[in-house]
Amino acid sequence: MTAKLILGTEIREQILEEITAEVKAIKAKHGVVPGLVTILIGENPASMSYVTLKIQTAHRVGFTEVQDSQPVDISEADLLALIDKYNKDDSINGILVQLPLPKHINEKKVLNAIDPDKDVDGFHPVNVGRLMIGGSEVRFPPCTPAGIQEMIVRAGVETKGAEVVVVGRSNIVGKPIANMMLQKGAGANSTVTIVHTGTKNMDAHCKRADILIVAAGVPGLVKPEWIKPGACVIDVGVNRVGEKVSEKTGKKIAILKGDVDFDAAKEIAGSITPVPGGVGPMTITMLMKNTLKSLKFKLGIA
Ligand code: GUN
Repeated sequence: MTAKLILGTEIREQILEEITAEVKAIKAKHGVVPGLVTILIGENPASMSYVTLKIQTAHRVGFTEVQDSQPVDISEADLLALIDKYNKDDSINGILVQLPLPKHINEKKVLNAIDPDKDVDGFHPVNVGRLMIGGSEVRFPPCTPAGIQEMIVRAGVETKGAEVVVVGRSNIVGKPIANMMLQKGAGANSTVTIVHTGTKNMDAHCKRADILIVAAGVPGLVKPEWIKPGACVIDVGVNRVGEKVSEKTGKKIAILKGDVDFDAAKEIAGSITPVPGGVGPMTITMLMKNTLKSLKFKLGIA
């Protein structure tokens, strides 16, 4: 058996088209479009390319987009003042501070300074709490977990009563996706287990999974014999395992490997996400969805 591929590259296109249509309709009726600001500190090449992609995507779906680049030695006080400026700016619905931050800046302090109603990353404790309560309390589900749930639903995988096993307990993927999948409601209502570095017999837990979500950051951690035949496997791992020359551009690019042994796993799973081209493209897509949602909340139409 060869698994059905769940392609983030395809699902992204569907969702961005839906967002573009909704932005046009809101513009026609209310005369406004969502505004997103991305704050980039310094010149970390990976951060620069993520932010460029976020800005390009925001532009593509019809948002107003602002890229605010600041020097690597910006003081914490100046960054907090900048966030305060955007908190008060009526044309801005989403504020994203690209992580990681330079060592002299306290990340927690910065993330906590963002107005929770503009926190489209969903990292503010208020939004983490809202997510935990679930239902209509939820404002901004964090982008990667939101993308994972969207992929599972759009692939037609039954979640109600499904055994979901999450590998990894990070604050940005493992904990929130586990929380989202256990909520009552569509696309969730699952029985959830989180396994982590303290878990005994990780393989035995994974073998029970109807839906296996792997966000461990360990290349090839999940072996084919850990997978239940027919399971849906979501691989969140993006591990740089080397470099190669791109056939398209002739430039050096990273060789990426997931947390799942893909070639073997696809012969056992019912559906599976590849790396790259799986979960990766969904994160920025869901950032757009959250920014649109922020404007809709403001307009009272969410
Ligand atoms: N750096 C890497 N991923 C992310 C993300 O999802 N949000 C922010 N703010 N920074 C990141």
